[in-house]
Amino acid sequence: VVEYSLRPRYLSEYIGQSQAKENLKVYIEAAKQRSEALDHVLLYGPPGLGKTTLSNIIANELGVNIRTTSGPAIERPGDLAAILTNLQENDVLFIDEIHRLNRSVEEVLYPAMEDYALDIIIGKGPSARSVRLDLPPFTLIGATTRAGLLSAPLRDRFGVVSRLEYYNVDELTFIVTRAADILQVHIEEEAAIEIGLRSRGTPRIANRLLKRVRDFAQVRGDGMITTELAKSALELLQVDSLGLDLIDHKMLTAIIQSFKGGPVGLDTIAATIGEESQTIEDVYEPYLLQIGFLQRTPRGRAVTPAAYRHLGLPVPQ
Ligand code: ADE
Repeated sequence: VVEYSLRPRYLSEYIGQSQAKENLKVYIEAAKQRSEALDHVLLYGPPGLGKTTLSNIIANELGVNIRTTSGPAIERPGDLAAILTNLQENDVLFIDEIHRLNRSVEEVLYPAMEDYALDIIIGKGPSARSVRLDLPPFTLIGATTRAGLLSAPLRDRFGVVSRLEYYNVDELTFIVTRAADILQVHIEEEAAIEIGLRSRGTPRIANRLLKRVRDFAQVRGDGMITTELAKSALELLQVDSLGLDLIDHKMLTAIIQSFKGGPVGLDTIAATIGEESQTIEDVYEPYLLQIGFLQRTPRGRAVTPAAYRHLGLPVPQ
């Protein structure tokens, strides 16, 4: 499958996140030399920056299996127990959206992470007793867009905590060039830069834009992604010069036109533009904050002068 093969499989192929990458390289090598499980790893940061990709690479570099699941998918303690007891020595267990684990499941995870043990209650009422079951050593990799939502006891049990950062344009251009190579489509360097510029620091968006631009090149052009073709395709995709899409525009415009630029509460913004608060907070807002178009204040979100200028609107005094 194309989608999968665009993902790098080794650290040496993984572009960007140099801080996280360099440190992980050492921890992986050390664990391998000792034939031990790598310590538990928490990866956090905005969506699309490569948390899942990096987890697969870690398992691959360690030479172990990876079992993938997510916080909401593990409904009961028994679900987690079933997964844990099926791991092999030093395997990776990847839990995406780990901030969405429920409390009772989280409590099973503590002794599993700390002592590779499972505490099972047998029986009911006064005759109930707890039995401790040994687990194979394993590495938990947790991924979350919201590290702040993790409970302190869970967060404290990760020996490696790594924050993924937005990618710069050079890195994104490189990722686009690499992906075009894998997709066997010719792309002009300036076209790759144009896609890089409009990918809001996010490889997932860069790869998606590349695929859509490739569609235009194939149907409307001769298959080559020239700079001119890329620019007109990106125009049709309604992605502006900074990578902002219709929802970003709706959000900024709503705050400006309905709330005098803010501050205004997140839920009010969400209701005004008909999006989920959670989606705005996890997906849209982080990049707008990063590029300085939005500010978080104690009374809500406010649009900055830079955003007015980008939208071609007069900056209020
Ligand atoms: N594709 C998506 N993310 C990537 C990355 N960080 N490096 C290389 N290719 C990628």
